[in-house]
Amino acid sequence: MHRVTATSIPATMRALQQTSLNGPQDLRLITDAPVPTPGPGEVLIRVTAAGVNYCDIYQAGGTFGGGPQPPYLAGIEGVGEVTAIGEGVTGLEPGSHVIGVGYGAFAEYMVLSAAGAVPVPAGWADEQALGLVVNWPTALAALRPLGGVTAGQTVLIHAAAGGTGQAAVKMAKHYGATVIATASPGKHEVVRALGADHVIDSRGTDIASEVLRLTGGAGADLVLESVGGATLDASLAAAKRVTGRVVVSGLAGGEAAITNWELVFKHQIHVIGLNIGTLTQFAPQIFGEVMGELSGLLAAGVLGPAHPTVYDLANGPKALAELEARATVGKLALLP
Ligand SMILES: NC(=O)c1ccc[n+]([C@@H]2O[C@H](COP(=O)([O-])OP(=O)(O)OC[C@H]3O[C@@H](n4cnc5c(N)ncnc54)[C@H](OP(=O)(O)O)[C@@H]3O)[C@@H](O)[C@H]2O)c1
Repeated sequence: MHRVTATSIPATMRALQQTSLNGPQDLRLITDAPVPTPGPGEVLIRVTAAGVNYCDIYQAGGTFGGGPQPPYLAGIEGVGEVTAIGEGVTGLEPGSHVIGVGYGAFAEYMVLSAAGAVPVPAGWADEQALGLVVNWPTALAALRPLGGVTAGQTVLIHAAAGGTGQAAVKMAKHYGATVIATASPGKHEVVRALGADHVIDSRGTDIASEVLRLTGGAGADLVLESVGGATLDASLAAAKRVTGRVVVSGLAGGEAAITNWELVFKHQIHVIGLNIGTLTQFAPQIFGEVMGELSGLLAAGVLGPAHPTVYDLANGPKALAELEARATVGKLALLP
């Protein structure tokens, strides 16, 4: 049983369906996807915007651990208007606007867990809240509870012009850190405007040597490592010996290995894995603290409404291809 608004809910909808694990080029627009029904503790939202995240690319390529099997409706981050309420849901009414994480966000409707749905901040358009439940908590968790950043420390932030990286730069500066950012050359001005102290080329430079030079040979206290591939080794080499932390949250540049030999004889540093979904599930108290701290940062104006680059739902494959090709700056959104 669920209550509905006056707006009638159709039986089928437009959605992007991933049909293989060969990447986002096999994302197809379908027009007859069944509109899901909210179960106990869930709400149905009419999606007004879906956030594009790098994990959509991992899922489409089959590298996301425990990810969905095709055919599946793609997209994990949706914002919109609550249109139906599942059994036992309290505190959310039809008509309220919320953002959350679930399955099948690249669609006209999706189901969210009511407990995990976050109200769109007052005065913000729905799409301006994109980032609030994925990118921003990830950046904050990497910086604070996991990375332990404090004022005066140096933080190396990769992909600093991206959806997650931009928030990380703003927050790291707010906490009083010196920020060394990496980005493709065409994105450096964006990163400087966010307050980064130094911006280095993510494509050409010897990143580790440059960080060591900028820190007088000491290395960075904290590295937000979201790139992987050859960059992982540069990140390990750029971290301060003994006390430096490298928070590993992504592998846009591919998988890379760390050996016990390296940790004993080459990179005597702390390596910390981060997956925001796992953190939410296994450390709800830490996640709650992160979300509480985020509210404070929003109230203080450290983080403000996002201005995502928008694409029509049908152009989802193009949006994901551009993200994968490193051609984007900031957050991307699909409008159904
Ligand atoms: N673990 C988690 O829970 C979690 C949650 C959110 C995000 N993340 C991770 O954070 C990272 C950023 O995610 P996002 O969604 O905000 O994406 P994004 O930063 O907006 O886009 C990815 C950026 O990564 C950089 N990059 C460097 N090497 C790359 C390569 N070989 N291939 C592709 N991109 C490369 C590119 O920036 P430049 O060209 O400027 O270098 C690119 O624009 C991803 O690795 C993602 O997996 C993890």
